[in-house]
Amino acid sequence: MAKTFTSLSLIVSVAFLAICTARRPPLVSDVPVNYTHVCEPSRFAKQGLDIAEFGYCDTSQSFEKRAKDLIDRMTLEEKVLQLGNSAAGASKLGLPPYEWWSEALHGVSDTGPGTNFDEVVPGATSFPTVLLTTASFNQSLWKRIGEVVSSEARAMYNLGKSGLTFWSPNINVARDPRWGRILETPGEDPFVVGTYGAIYVRALQDVEGTLNTTDLNSRPLKVAACCKHYTAYDIEDWLGVDRFHFDARVTEQDMLETFQRPFEMCVRDGDASSAMCSFNRVNGIPVCADKTLLQDKIRGQWDLHGYIVSDCDSIEVMVHGQKWLGDTQEDAVSQVLKAGLDLDCGDYYPKYLKSALMQGQISEAEIDRSLKYIYVVLMRLGYFDGSPFSSLGKKDICSNENIELAAEAAREGIVLLKNNGTLPLNSSKLKKLAVIGPHANATKAMIGNYAGIPCRYVSPIEGFSAFAEVTYEMGCADVACKNDSLIFPAMEAAREADATILMVGLDLSVEAEGRDRVDLLLPGYQTQLINQVAKASKGPVILVIMAAGCVDISFAKNNELIQAILWAGYPGQEGGRAIADIVFGKHNPGGRLPLTWYKAEYVDAVPMTSMSLRPVDEFGYPGRTYKFFNGSTVYPFGYGLSYTNFSYKITPSKTALKIKLNKYQHCNNLNYTNDDVKPFCPAVLVEDLGCEHEFGLEATVENAGKMDGSEVVMVYSKPPMGITGTHAKQVIGFERVFVPAGGKNKVKFTFDVCKSLAIVDGRGNKVLPSGLHTIMVGDADVSFLVEVQFYQ
Ligand SMILES: *[C@@H]1O[C@H](CO)[C@@H](O)[C@H](O)[C@H]1NC(C)=O
Ligand SMILES: *[C@@H]1O[C@H](CO)[C@@H](O)[C@H](O)[C@H]1NC(C)=O
Ligand SMILES: *[C@@H]1O[C@H](CO)[C@@H](O)[C@H](O)[C@H]1NC(C)=O
Ligand SMILES: *[C@@H]1O[C@H](CO)[C@@H](O)[C@H](O)[C@H]1NC(C)=O
Ligand SMILES: *[C@@H]1O[C@H](CO)[C@@H](O)[C@H](O)[C@H]1NC(C)=O
Ligand SMILES: *[C@@H]1O[C@H](CO)[C@@H](O)[C@H](O)[C@H]1NC(C)=O
Ligand SMILES: *[C@@H]1O[C@H](CO)[C@@H](O)[C@H](O)[C@H]1NC(C)=O
Ligand SMILES: *[C@@H]1O[C@H](CO)[C@@H](O)[C@H](O)[C@H]1NC(C)=O
Ligand SMILES: *[C@@H]1O[C@H](CO)[C@@H](O)[C@H](O)[C@H]1NC(C)=O
Ligand SMILES: *[C@@H]1O[C@H](CO)[C@@H](O)[C@H](O)[C@H]1NC(C)=O
Repeated sequence: MAKTFTSLSLIVSVAFLAICTARRPPLVSDVPVNYTHVCEPSRFAKQGLDIAEFGYCDTSQSFEKRAKDLIDRMTLEEKVLQLGNSAAGASKLGLPPYEWWSEALHGVSDTGPGTNFDEVVPGATSFPTVLLTTASFNQSLWKRIGEVVSSEARAMYNLGKSGLTFWSPNINVARDPRWGRILETPGEDPFVVGTYGAIYVRALQDVEGTLNTTDLNSRPLKVAACCKHYTAYDIEDWLGVDRFHFDARVTEQDMLETFQRPFEMCVRDGDASSAMCSFNRVNGIPVCADKTLLQDKIRGQWDLHGYIVSDCDSIEVMVHGQKWLGDTQEDAVSQVLKAGLDLDCGDYYPKYLKSALMQGQISEAEIDRSLKYIYVVLMRLGYFDGSPFSSLGKKDICSNENIELAAEAAREGIVLLKNNGTLPLNSSKLKKLAVIGPHANATKAMIGNYAGIPCRYVSPIEGFSAFAEVTYEMGCADVACKNDSLIFPAMEAAREADATILMVGLDLSVEAEGRDRVDLLLPGYQTQLINQVAKASKGPVILVIMAAGCVDISFAKNNELIQAILWAGYPGQEGGRAIADIVFGKHNPGGRLPLTWYKAEYVDAVPMTSMSLRPVDEFGYPGRTYKFFNGSTVYPFGYGLSYTNFSYKITPSKTALKIKLNKYQHCNNLNYTNDDVKPFCPAVLVEDLGCEHEFGLEATVENAGKMDGSEVVMVYSKPPMGITGTHAKQVIGFERVFVPAGGKNKVKFTFDVCKSLAIVDGRGNKVLPSGLHTIMVGDADVSFLVEVQFYQ
């Protein structure tokens, strides 16, 4: 969303401006909001209407019936005016305007026009950006954050400052390290991304006590979430290739295995009430116009209960940018409506649906179908009838408890990459601290994009001031660090201090929506700053990287003068406090990298436009993510140290799974490097199997060190040896456990055979291979085999 049309034609930029300014809808706050819900008799009475006449307010009827009543009362003109993000409402029917576009990626954000801050609500809690929260690998934390965000959102709605429909989370897999939006995502592993997506969606949406609702079209919603951007979208603007024109060429195999998996989990497991199609094309077709991807897949196969919305102005992009099929505006709105797009973030639906209908391209029934989906969602939200959340208000926004959770999230996410025993620092042994670098006084940089206005900021220099006397030097004027003029004073500060903290990295000027990176290095003179300060420093040197995408810091990893390195992502409003708490041992770090940290040369080996996850031998492309890249890295996926040491003992619950096939279940072929090791029945299609088989393990985690700590128990499966073209391993489960110093803790996993051991073959079939699968816990030093055997 949030369009940057730098690379589109002038005509499009002008049209875009028109949307943003002239057509900007009345903000929710401009609308009288002295009612908490639409179907309030006094509201109707004030407008000279009798509520009893309007069946859509009759709570004895089903949502679908009531939605139909509302739609049937509308003229065609009124109908189409409800299908843009700024829905006009219909005053004769007592229906107020509604702004659909609000955002809540890591806190309530004012990126969309549906939300705004003012003197009544000056800010909302700004959690770490999603990538850092993901690094905690703590599913309860992910859930807790979503619950707090939705409570603050609902409170803002009650105060007239926000909508109820939030277009979050972003669950595109981070396929390429250059992608500018990695900070918004849960990383590179499709299962981790999907797990995060489903948990966050449920935490935004679920209303306690209503989870057993059998009719999911009537299940109440706290606020509505959205799985975006569907699909195979992860290019912003790379060497002139931009997301508005990019045609992602994707194999069925990568589609099923990587790009679609998080969306399927988000819609099915999360029961999301919305999905958003992306700007790009997939195999030639704009996603928003692809019936197979929208109607058949999301609505049909995945059984969406809700609406499908376009990324903002993507219909316009089809016409003016992609010049798809030489479409007129009417052709384009007809194609996307028929493909299954219900709501247009933009103004094409309101402007052109009527003329498309007049031209005979679409029917009114198709418009009504989409209207029904959007009104049922608003009914589930209590927009018409009120909700159990009406008591939430100002006191629930930026409460101390919420601010503490933001700090806790940052502490749990931060990853310790290097430590030769220097960390944690002991504040009673240390007086003067030099805090140096372009991020030493970071504030706005810590909250990344899709942020709102935070309750407050705790910058690194403020955070460290709680432990020692701080000398602050910027070292660089900004992240770009175009010259070395500020390095000398930084060296002087380091020479005087008992310890030196270097706060470096990237920000939205390097990685952002609309902006991909071209290299994996620290910008400008930052490397010189680090090396020279390390040389000059009297005390130990701690390097803190604030960035989302990986940075090749091999030089620092190999430099003995740098005793410790932390990755802090973009840590949110409380970031400085969290970093200082970790450096001084108030918290023992336990985060793990949700991304592979490639070496700088990686970007020369593969163009960003190659969508393939597997190595492409023909062009020498090396493969992507820990599942397929087998070269050396700066730090691997899942990496992260602690101030203590953990050891594992594993007890598998089952090591042999004999699966009887009936006469309708057939063996599938798989390619093997060596036909001699090929089993007689190599694999069976997952959809042919009942998948009732499970296996599991119990891990006992022991803390052998002197400090309490948390360990992320990461479980991978590795397919039987010799199958060609499959992943090296894949995450199948993870849990973060707390273990006191000298103590033990147990964690139990149960795995579904199909979900955890299946692979996708070269033809795009999801199959369960027979043979010996390896189950690895942690860094593979603990593993066992599970044998899958088919027999007739
Ligand atoms: C809303 O209610 C307040 C206090 O009850 C009142 O002062 C204000 O005029 C009302 N606003 C509208 C638009 O009705
Ligand atoms: C995970 O997060 C929850 C919720 O914030 C927290 O209570 C718990 O202590 C965390 N677990 C670990 C092992 O850090
Ligand atoms: C929902 O169903 C579960 C499992 O059947 C049951 O344990 C639980 O009590 C039910 N909850 C409510 C609120 O009905
Ligand atoms: C920190 O240093 C003080 C003074 O030397 C010492 O008493 C204390 O035990 C140290 N704390 C830790 C956690 O090592
Ligand atoms: C740190 O940044 C804030 C906000 O940009 C600014 O107000 C403050 O003066 C800065 N602190 C120092 C010591 O420069
Ligand atoms: C160094 O960069 C800063 C900020 O970009 C600029 O203000 C300053 O003039 C530059 N100094 C030199 C010596 O080029
Ligand atoms: C730790 O850092 C010190 C000081 O730079 C250095 O002398 C030592 O070799 C390092 N130890 C390890 C294990 O790398
Ligand atoms: C890594 O992948 C390349 C390309 O497929 C292959 O040639 C090479 O043998 C692999 N190396 C290892 C160590 O598996
Ligand atoms: C962890 O174990 C390693 C190897 O056994 C040891 O060298 C190191 O000192 C231990 N670290 C801690 C923090 O206990
Ligand atoms: C096996 O490899 C051949 C040749 O590369 C390919 O055509 C075929 O689709 C592969 N079969 C499977 C099941 O992947």
